[in-house]
Amino acid sequence: GVQYENIIVSRPEPNVVLVQLNRPKALNALSSPLFKELNQALFEADQDDTVGAMVLTGSEKAFAAGADIKEMKDKTFADVYKNKFLENWGEIARLRKPVIAAVSGFALGGGCELALMCDIILASPTAKFGQPEINLGVIPGGGGSQRLAGIVGKSRAMELILTGRTISAKEAENWGMVSRVVGEGEGQVVKDAVAMATEIASKSQVAVQAGKEVVNAAYELTLAEGLRFERRIFHGLFATNDQKEGNLCEIFQSQAGVPDF
Ligand code: CAA
Repeated sequence: GVQYENIIVSRPEPNVVLVQLNRPKALNALSSPLFKELNQALFEADQDDTVGAMVLTGSEKAFAAGADIKEMKDKTFADVYKNKFLENWGEIARLRKPVIAAVSGFALGGGCELALMCDIILASPTAKFGQPEINLGVIPGGGGSQRLAGIVGKSRAMELILTGRTISAKEAENWGMVSRVVGEGEGQVVKDAVAMATEIASKSQVAVQAGKEVVNAAYELTLAEGLRFERRIFHGLFATNDQKEGNLCEIFQSQAGVPDF
């Protein structure tokens, strides 16, 4: 396999890839080399037919404390403009397979934006989210303003981005930024995220990828366009083997109870 310096890639389950950010001394600051490795690992997993879903996590203390401030501090406008600084961050949005963010500790600046790029966010009770860029005389540059506004609304996005305030896991849950806060305990959020990824990986991969594609369309298209897109994709799934195999028995089973993640 590929040797990485800034991340650790593992297979906690046969169909699940776990990517752990691994720059503990810098609280997983998202340096350019780290992001390059992250993109590469996620794209490899996306291409691998044996993988159904990915989990992205950091450490107990920090999911990621933002873009690397030490790397940024001496850059000029010409440097960042000519070199398209952070443009490659957007590659994560092109992944077909779901990525679940398992967030403990600080998810600040680029770290918060990275979590927001993922498809589902699970938060440990220790998670803290915020966009403190204003304190550095800049603004979010990794999609934060656009994604946050779409998810939590204008007033809350403005408050976070203009004051730099950090919010707790509970508040992020109330605001709909995270799907839920998991139980306490070291490693719990990763455990729950891997269980959820395993559940997703057990479904029809075509249907899962289609589901991700149509939900994402809700953030880009008008309602009329989105509904038309959903219906076309829905119709298209009737041409798949998985739809032919998916039997009523299975559907009744899955309605019998909420899956135990
Ligand atoms: N970049 C580079 N290094 C960072 C970092 C970052 N974003 N965040 C933390 N570190 C480093 C610190 O410099 C320190 O390293 P040294 O020991 O070598 O000095 C180490 O991580 C530990 O940090 P602290 O000693 O500060 O730890 P703490 O527990 O006292 O505080 C913290 C934790 C509140 C997260 C604090 O580190 C902090 O405020 N970090 C910066 C957060 C921030 O401003 N993020 C936004 C970055 S800009 C951005 O992300 C732009 C964008 O939109 C893409």
